[in-house]
Amino acid sequence: MTQERQRVLVARRLFPEISQRLAQHFEVDAYQEPEPLAPEALAERLQGCAGVLITGTERIDAALLAACPQLRAVCSMAVGYNNIDVSACTARRVLATNAPGVLTETTADFGFALMMAAARRISESEHWLRAGQWKQWSYDLFAGSDVYGATLGIVGMGRIGQAIARRGALGFDMKVAYHNRSRLSGADEAVVGAQYLALHDLLRVADHLVIVVPYTPQTHHLIGAAELALMKPTATLTNIARGGVVDDAALAQALHERRIAAAGLDVFEGEPRVHPGLLAVPNVVLTPHIASASLPTRRAMADLAASNLIAALTGGRPPTPLNPEVVA
Ligand code: GLV
Repeated sequence: MTQERQRVLVARRLFPEISQRLAQHFEVDAYQEPEPLAPEALAERLQGCAGVLITGTERIDAALLAACPQLRAVCSMAVGYNNIDVSACTARRVLATNAPGVLTETTADFGFALMMAAARRISESEHWLRAGQWKQWSYDLFAGSDVYGATLGIVGMGRIGQAIARRGALGFDMKVAYHNRSRLSGADEAVVGAQYLALHDLLRVADHLVIVVPYTPQTHHLIGAAELALMKPTATLTNIARGGVVDDAALAQALHERRIAAAGLDVFEGEPRVHPGLLAVPNVVLTPHIASASLPTRRAMADLAASNLIAALTGGRPPTPLNPEVVA
């Protein structure tokens, strides 16, 4: 008697090779529409599925798990996993995985690029040029702030934060200061000469602040009006972490009043909606959550999620589990 193949859902439109790889092991339902499945539609589509490959968008919570009792593995191609209730997964013995590591350098490149674009007013000046406003040279035309030799402040010194610190210290001779839940080892600090500071001290000294912390109840609005008020009027703020870590309304107000010079934002509260106050100010570079979006990296992220899913459902050892106690 042939054994029935397990069924898995690929919950977002992805590289066809990923479904082909999964199809060597499973019966694959590959969702193809560009917009994400709404929560009820996701639960419905997951009926009978043992596993699901998701992105950072699909919400996996206790209600969804209760509605999908056959689910054994939830494998995300994102590194951030605030969309997955890991405790609820563990309680139901559902393995959850994310995709750390493979996107570190690509995401750090983008964070650095956004910071530079904000500091040197690249988007703002390009819009002005395209609007036909360039008539003559002027000594202060789009004069911004320097990156080389400035103080880089990093909030969240995980893999990506450290990769940004290396770019700043080794490539741009920046002084690196950081705030993190836990302090790095002396050896890790020494790589970039990083100085650990309390958040409020970091806000006061940073010329360019880059935010790379995970989104949790503790980091909700970590940077709000009070924190922005501590920053230098010449400083920039770059957020490549998650919407909600920064209070976007407070940031829009600070940019409008030029209480900080500029911002670079790849993530937004309630994205894909963007706070109208941010759309209205010129001194912010806005990008649609693409920090990890090079093709090789997106392929590597999807591939890692597929490796996790295959291992989880075929008795292997998933490479990057969030709740490894479920594997044992
Ligand atoms: C992207 O935001 C990710 O978490 O991978």
